[in-house]
Amino acid sequence: MVIQKNLFIVILFLFTQSICTTHLKEQFSQVGYQEICDSDHGIATYDSLYACFDELITFLQANPVWAQKLYIAKERFIRSENRNYYSTDFFGFYDESERAGRNQISFYYSVHFQDFLFSYYQEFKQISQVTNFFARCFAIQQSSRNLFNEVAAQLNVENIFFSKYGHIPILLKAVKYLPSYNPERPHYDGTALSLFLDSTDNQSLLLSPYRLVFTVDDFFSPSRKFCRSYNQNSIVLIPGTLLTEFSIYPTPHIVQQSGKIRYATIAFAMRPHYTFQKNNFSLLPNFKS
Ligand SMILES: [Fe+2]
Repeated sequence: MVIQKNLFIVILFLFTQSICTTHLKEQFSQVGYQEICDSDHGIATYDSLYACFDELITFLQANPVWAQKLYIAKERFIRSENRNYYSTDFFGFYDESERAGRNQISFYYSVHFQDFLFSYYQEFKQISQVTNFFARCFAIQQSSRNLFNEVAAQLNVENIFFSKYGHIPILLKAVKYLPSYNPERPHYDGTALSLFLDSTDNQSLLLSPYRLVFTVDDFFSPSRKFCRSYNQNSIVLIPGTLLTEFSIYPTPHIVQQSGKIRYATIAFAMRPHYTFQKNNFSLLPNFKS
């Protein structure tokens, strides 16, 4: 009797797991995203992050020697073995404020990059604009870790994240779009999963489930059940390009020009020790023509 009961529980567990996996994969293939309610962070968290980001931008623009030092640290970091854990070269500060069309400033934060910087370039610990910004990035990426773990388990892909570090490599991107920002095409993220954690203008983000052929009209603003408020947020999860062997295809997206300053925060789940496979994903339409 006990054996039968246990067997029933095991079958029920496997059945539920299978439904969850199918459900999320189906959701990605049908609408391209899943909305999740973030009850840990709201306006207070992100407005504070953006205020610190602005202070860091002002500091680095006024002190190019420090910006250069940060760049040298990043170049050294991507030549260390840490780089393979993230399988990307994007770390640190990217000031594209003067680059036509791009007109944005971003910072790619990771815990290992912070540790590297504070170990080999200890003078950064004395810069309050850096430490304040990093403290906020650390707290936010830490809370996205559990969510990525749950999603990886639901998709049955948690094995790809195993590494000697014992957890998913997360890159946290803070970005400030300037009024002249004007993108041409959508893009795919070179990630396993991407989480749009916050934006000061959600309507500007358009996406589409993966298709063999795309037109501009396929792109829409994800509908939201939850809102950006004091103590909660609406976050959107999409797959990137690194899960195709599990038949999970990337969701292309674009942040449209809004003519205003717009801030956003995105967490990227990367894939440890992944060798990039050349994939011919569907071409993406030009939004300017
Ligand atoms: Fe993206």
